[in-house]
Amino acid sequence: MKMEYLPIKERFPRLEELRENHIVIKFGGNAISGQSDLKRFAKDVAMMRSLGLLPVLVHGGGPEITREMKLRGIEARKVAGLRITDTQTLEIAEYVLNRINREIVKALKGAGVDAVGVPGYKSGMIRCKRKEPILAYDEEGNLSTIDLGHVGDVVSVDGTQLGMITASGMIPVIYPIGQDEEGGHVNVNADTAAAHIAAALSCEEMILITDVPGILTDINDSASLIKEISMKQVDELIDEGVVMGGMVPKVEACRLALEKGVRSTHMLGGKDSEHLLRQILDGQHRGTRIVNG
Ligand SMILES: Nc1ncnc2c1ncn2[C@@H]1O[C@H](COP(=O)(O)OP(=O)(O)OP(=O)(O)O)[C@@H](O)[C@H]1O
Ligand SMILES: [Mg+2]
Repeated sequence: MKMEYLPIKERFPRLEELRENHIVIKFGGNAISGQSDLKRFAKDVAMMRSLGLLPVLVHGGGPEITREMKLRGIEARKVAGLRITDTQTLEIAEYVLNRINREIVKALKGAGVDAVGVPGYKSGMIRCKRKEPILAYDEEGNLSTIDLGHVGDVVSVDGTQLGMITASGMIPVIYPIGQDEEGGHVNVNADTAAAHIAAALSCEEMILITDVPGILTDINDSASLIKEISMKQVDELIDEGVVMGGMVPKVEACRLALEKGVRSTHMLGGKDSEHLLRQILDGQHRGTRIVNG
């Protein structure tokens, strides 16, 4: 309680460092869901903005897309944490992501923030090339070449356009459907998209909010949380099969962001995203910090 009365500088030691800086916050479908989660999150984002930070939001929608596919009798398939995306899956992904996006924008507006939904393909914001087939273990456990379909590798992100949106006082809320060389739409993993966006904006900080508290050594035990880890140690955990599935694109996103000059990357559980603002500004995250090296 006492902390509430401290001067703002003492309360938030990182404020000066982060003020006027873009900060990319990505959250997944299971991490922040339901109206109360969304309301709390929107309030935090509004506060960030009023303190002079420039939040840029990126969201996925994995669980909702899978649910919608099930409803339509289609089996969802993923390889190495990436969704195999045929034409029908892409159509469903776009439909679901657009719906989620509108809910987020509405929640932000409800919190008094001027927000704008941005599909990644809009005005070439996220340009991609079609992903080459990848060598991976299929569902039967055999190593084979797998074509992921309408999935993109990010080639570039238009940071200037994004900067113009934030400079006009709005918060962009981006969903990761990119534009390919032919002007078509491709599915991009939301963590990967967030990393490219953070790099294009030369962000100080990228935060990935997910449905687990961070990297766990035992996926069934949230007490096994790793508070800080280097990329070298992450590689060992991938080799050991400890980091797998949707966690792989997440750690790779952190690697990419760090390599491209983003200063700091964190993972945080949706449940721990309470007081997200304080966690960012006092630098004491409850999740996993991933560092270069
Ligand atoms: N070592 C690990 N520690 C924690 N989670 C792990 C680990 N290995 C694999 N995972 C899985 O990674 C998942 C998080 O990635 P996932 O892609 O499912 O969510 P998201 O990226 O937050 O959402 P979306 O894909 O919708 O954007 C966890 O729910 C967990 O099942
Ligand atoms: Mg994911």
